[in-house]
Amino acid sequence: MKKIVIAIDGFSSCGKSTMAKDLAKKIGYIYIDSGAMYRAVTLYSIENKLINNEQINITELKQRIKDIHISFLIDPTTQQPNTRLNGINVENKIRSMDVSSKVSPISTLDFVREAMVKQQQAMGKAKGIVMDGRDIGTTVFPDAELKIYVTASAEIRAQRRYDELKNKGLNASFEEIIKNVRERDFIDQNREISPLRKADDAILLDNSKMTIQQQQVWLIEQFNKVTKE
Ligand code: DC
Repeated sequence: MKKIVIAIDGFSSCGKSTMAKDLAKKIGYIYIDSGAMYRAVTLYSIENKLINNEQINITELKQRIKDIHISFLIDPTTQQPNTRLNGINVENKIRSMDVSSKVSPISTLDFVREAMVKQQQAMGKAKGIVMDGRDIGTTVFPDAELKIYVTASAEIRAQRRYDELKNKGLNASFEEIIKNVRERDFIDQNREISPLRKADDAILLDNSKMTIQQQQVWLIEQFNKVTKE
């Protein structure tokens, strides 16, 4: 069966990564979480004191961007990909509220996007990849054979992120999360470079009222349609 590129874009916390991860596992494709890459750059900036009081040291980050290498390695126990920043597993750290609240401004920087898109395109060269993000169907892989654009209400998305953090034993406030979700929606849709938008040839999926299982069935149907054409 021919291998294809699958691009899954949409708002934050709408379950993109759960569906993308699950699909990749089922069909034997590689899964890449492009948001994790922007989160890793943000973590690098925090740890190297390149962000102070919301102020980003752009000159310094620009100089160092070539030294920021992001990769994914399957955890042998969980069978899930772990994000590595310069070889170190940062999977848990990049999901913290601190990183979540600083990642949007970092992801609007042109040189950061350029570097990440380059790394993402290299990862998809051999096809057989499911990548999720904001600009995968529009900028990273405009020729992807299957594009999905996912959406759900802000309240539902905040609740999902709240549950996820709680399940991991991390501290969370619903109010803080919904505020963060709305702020990120605004920045993601209104930034100058590669704003979040549905590619003309993407299929729209509103999963507000769908269970994960219903969504999985729907997604496999879309995959089968494209690969059996
Ligand atoms: O999907 P996520 O919430 O982990 O993404 C983190 C941030 O990175 C989010 O604010 C938007 C940004 N992002 C982006 O600009 N482009 C992508 N392809 C993926 C994520």
